[in-house]
Amino acid sequence: MSKFYITTPIYYLNSTPHIGHSYTNIACDTLARYKRLMGYDVLFATGTDEHGQKIKEAAEAKGVEPKKFVDGLVPVFIGLWKKLGISYDDFIRTTDKRHEDVVRDVLNLLAEKGDIYEGEYSGWYCTPCESFWTKAQLVDNACPDCGRKAEEIKEKNLFFKLSKYQSWLVEYINSHGDFILPVTRRNEILSFLKNPLNDLCVSRPAARLSWGIEIPFSKDHITYVWFDALINYISVCGYKDNPAKFKKFWPADIHMIGKDILRPHTVYWPIMLHAIGLELPKTVFGHGWWKVGGDKMSKSKGNAVDPIDMVDRFGVDAYRFFLLKEVQFGTDGSFSEEALIARINSDLANDLGNLLHRTLSMVEKYFSGIVQERRDLKYSDEITKALIDKAGSLYSEINKGMDNIDFSYSLDAVWRLINMANKFIEQKAPWKLSKEQKLDDLKDVMYDLCEILRLVSVALMPFMPDTSNKIAGQLGLENIEKINFNDLKWGLLKPGTKINKGAQLFPRIEIT
Ligand code: ME8
Ligand code: MG
Repeated sequence: MSKFYITTPIYYLNSTPHIGHSYTNIACDTLARYKRLMGYDVLFATGTDEHGQKIKEAAEAKGVEPKKFVDGLVPVFIGLWKKLGISYDDFIRTTDKRHEDVVRDVLNLLAEKGDIYEGEYSGWYCTPCESFWTKAQLVDNACPDCGRKAEEIKEKNLFFKLSKYQSWLVEYINSHGDFILPVTRRNEILSFLKNPLNDLCVSRPAARLSWGIEIPFSKDHITYVWFDALINYISVCGYKDNPAKFKKFWPADIHMIGKDILRPHTVYWPIMLHAIGLELPKTVFGHGWWKVGGDKMSKSKGNAVDPIDMVDRFGVDAYRFFLLKEVQFGTDGSFSEEALIARINSDLANDLGNLLHRTLSMVEKYFSGIVQERRDLKYSDEITKALIDKAGSLYSEINKGMDNIDFSYSLDAVWRLINMANKFIEQKAPWKLSKEQKLDDLKDVMYDLCEILRLVSVALMPFMPDTSNKIAGQLGLENIEKINFNDLKWGLLKPGTKINKGAQLFPRIEIT
């Protein structure tokens, strides 16, 4: 069986999750579900990044110990993932013993290789980004990434020899076209690598910052939070505690991240892996950024969108659908309630909801809720053939989108079929066929519409699992839990199936 290993970033536990975090996890969940439906053995990992200055400061502000502080936030993240239907297989915390052991091993290995040395560090530190900058990199004495004030720091620290591996990395990126995606991000990193790399400061003096993993060969230091965090990707898949699992799942197929953390993932991490003799992940995908209006989302601006509130008000699948469909994956997006409501009313209520409701109402009305047998396809007219043709291409269209990590492409293919089916109802006018007693034609039309709905329900499984189940339930399908992408073939709907028409899936939302 083929394997598929996908990871999300591990999120900082300095505050509660917002839509950006939910976006990455929904995208990964969709890919993980898709691969499972394609027969892969999937490992889908997420987790939390719990060390470092930023978290220590957040804990201090609340007047609690860092460990107690992070323990209180983990259930908030897990609760959100449950609510969003995130089907992760493992959840890693950087305070887990299984992880801390691996961090120490990696440090020891690198030290034995001579890739770690002690030096004097002086530079500017940005706590929100947990990043060092040189004076020249600062913009108006502030962090070039987030614009917040950076602090000058001078201290003895440990350094990892990134520079030694720079030309190897450039060569690797150039010869592995799928390593950094989308291509724009790849170019960004290649252009960054045109300048000489500085070695990476991988420690903090314990006297200044005690909240981290102690460096095994230098008791006065703890591990830099980014160096610690990146290692989660190997600790969660068994690097130390489950070698068979590690052998099976490493290298990761996709590290999914936002574009904000591209550099640690495509410069530090590959060099760390290469230096300890491990293969690199096949793809690091840096997706786009959600803003609100044209603004950056932030707690201080008070414009952060709460994913829990969105799900409570609009439903989990409408929310998942919006995020995956609204922008092409990789590019930036602008979040607004108006845009979400517009999508619900048009794509979900009008297109999908109506197709289901109208079709099932007619099956009830004309055939007492029983799907009838259809005649051989060769007797069908051109309109019908075109529709069935379209349905037949759904499998390859969805795969094409998913292979390119382009969710809206796959969803567009599903919606083209839905819209064609809605048009088919108008063209065929089943009410006329009924009136004129053209029963064979009517049976065929109703079978075809039900079969399209079955295909739509299978196709939507990775994207909108609840909706997909509800459609399957209303169609009266059996063994829903056994459905997979082999079922994306025309004609599997059994005549004699008794439908269970239920409530409208997506009632229209009236804007007041
Ligand atoms: O950076 N739009 O954690 P973090 C889209 N702990 N995605 C967004 C987003 C937005 N507005 N805001 C956040 C860290 N994200 C480190 C990672 S990994 C070894 C360590 C998502 O809590 C996106 O995936 O700041 C981004 O990369 C991530 O959250 C940053 O989460
Ligand atoms: Mg961040």
